[in-house]
Amino acid sequence: MKKIVIFASGSGSNAENIVLHFNKKGSANVVRIFTNNPNAKVLERAKYLDIPSEIFDRNELNEGKVLQKLNEIQPDLIVLAGFLLKFPESIIKAFPNKVVNIHPALLPNYGGKGMYGINVHRAVLENKEKETGITIHYVNEHYDEGEFIFQKSVNIEDCKSAEEIAERNGVLEQLHFPEVIEKLLTRNS
Ligand code: GAR
Repeated sequence: MKKIVIFASGSGSNAENIVLHFNKKGSANVVRIFTNNPNAKVLERAKYLDIPSEIFDRNELNEGKVLQKLNEIQPDLIVLAGFLLKFPESIIKAFPNKVVNIHPALLPNYGGKGMYGINVHRAVLENKEKETGITIHYVNEHYDEGEFIFQKSVNIEDCKSAEEIAERNGVLEQLHFPEVIEKLLTRNS
């Protein structure tokens, strides 16, 4: 059975969707949810989904404690789903081509430091973009710059608020992220 670990900092709607997808499929298990935010809603979701969770701070992430846990788990894929800290190079090097992130925009536009969650959608709205979308990509040492795996766009010409854009984009995330993860796991086997 393939092992997935998820890193999330906030609500965790993607984390939940991935867990439910693989509960149904049975081809992989989410074996741990890691968060840097002790108040994150993802922790509640982990509890009712019955997935063990792990809270860590920035030092533990950057000074090897999280890497040590990952080495014990030996995941087949590390999924960043709304994870807002910079991911350390030491982990990326220890798990080459096994760390993936979802970004709520069509990279290379609207990426980089500070571009996360609703901030991205506000910027997209401000620039009167006709479309936005999602990018799933490998993680490297620069924010939002790793090799693209998957992109999908959506028309937002009629959207009047960042929240509306977020909702429309969220549908794409829910629809495609688990499928892309599943494909990556098959490719890696
Ligand atoms: C998602 O929209 C994800 O694309 C975004 O955070 C949200 C997390 O939602 N990620 C980034 O902005 C990363 N730069 P969730 O916690 O409900 O899954």
